[in-house]
Amino acid sequence: MLKIALTKGKLFDCALDLFEKAGIIVFKEVKNTRKLSFLDKDKNIEFSIIRAFDVPTYVEYGACDIGIAGKDILLEQNKDLYEPLDLKFGHCKLVVAEPVDIARNDNIYSWSQVRIATKYPHITEKYFSEKGIQVEVIKLYGSVELAPLMGLSERIVDLVETGKTLQENGLVVIEEMLDVTARLVVNRASFKTKDKEISKFLNIIKAAL
Ligand code: PRP
Repeated sequence: MLKIALTKGKLFDCALDLFEKAGIIVFKEVKNTRKLSFLDKDKNIEFSIIRAFDVPTYVEYGACDIGIAGKDILLEQNKDLYEPLDLKFGHCKLVVAEPVDIARNDNIYSWSQVRIATKYPHITEKYFSEKGIQVEVIKLYGSVELAPLMGLSERIVDLVETGKTLQENGLVVIEEMLDVTARLVVNRASFKTKDKEISKFLNIIKAAL
């Protein structure tokens, strides 16, 4: 049996569309239930619905053979996973942002130290240390755009897709750090022990892409 992790949140609908195109129909009820795992006995596939930040952990431990995760999360967690496919959906950017009035006369290359609120402490620390900028990271779990408004931190590192959340909270991008898309990840042991099923699965997904 193949165990596949579907990601809750923004990547969920795109993943279902892709699977449908590939002829892998995920049960319709996945969208309207609190149930978290579904067994397709005919296809011998078990789908689980997992929070985006937890997908790499389930796949690394082999609790799921295959998962879908954003490149942002994969870089942040740096788990030992096989990453065979860029799924080319879930396009967004990881950026540094700050309030509009500060951004008018600001430039990150003039900073020697900075405080940043983010869901991505590792990527942020690495990015700024490579530029010789001392960074104090405040780890948050969501709604990061609130941090400058509440005086927690003037600057944030976060994902931008449409730009609506930044705009509605009076923030602007001052540095683009990374282009992000969804990736298919596979457990390294499963890739050997279930090689036929996984190769077949990868081929039909590639064809659908
Ligand atoms: C993500 C991201 C931004 C927002 C960007 O948050 O962290 O807050 O989407 O999207 P936009 O540019 O289209 O406005 P998400 O909705 O995943 O929730 P979270 O802030 O609670 O993590």
